[in-house]
Amino acid sequence: MAVDYLVYVSQATKAVSDGDLKDILAKSREYNAGADISGMLVFAYGRDGRRGSFMQLLEGDAGEIETLREKIFADPRHHTKIVIEKGSKAERDFSDWSMAFKNAPEDSLAAFPAFADLGSDHFFERCQTGRISGSLAFLKDFWDADRSDA
Ligand SMILES: Cc1cc2nc3c(=O)[nH]c(=O)nc-3n(C[C@H](O)[C@H](O)[C@H](O)COP(=O)(O)O)c2cc1C
Repeated sequence: MAVDYLVYVSQATKAVSDGDLKDILAKSREYNAGADISGMLVFAYGRDGRRGSFMQLLEGDAGEIETLREKIFADPRHHTKIVIEKGSKAERDFSDWSMAFKNAPEDSLAAFPAFADLGSDHFFERCQTGRISGSLAFLKDFWDADRSDA
């Protein structure tokens, strides 16, 4: 069944610990399951003195996605939130996950040239000016890459 989706990026406000990520994921998994939202969250460690960056896919009902997007975008733990892709697609890619998660250390992104600088100023400049495409395909491929090391 066709499903709506949205991908955004943002920058962490403060250094993000494993505990912070666990809290975000616990909350996400509880809420998203109730709203029938699935998706994936990537955290890239900071570069250029930044505190780290997020990329998140939300998939589900358009109204539920918008409600959740507003909630997430109001969260002071991140800033510079930019929606980089949205639309509808034939089916969910993360139907088993109310929120899948993967860390993205710099070397793990080397195989994805357009996203290798996720977490850098340059990447966010490209997002601001609409020069990022293929984020959904990237998230799917990144999820499947090196699963044993994740
Ligand atoms: C990067 C990031 C991603 C988040 N993703 C989700 C999410 O998918 N689902 C969710 O319910 N909360 C998510 N949150 C948490 C929300 O922003 C917010 O803290 C939470 O929904 C507040 O719930 P409460 O008002 O019931 O405490 C995320 C937060 C951050 C920083």
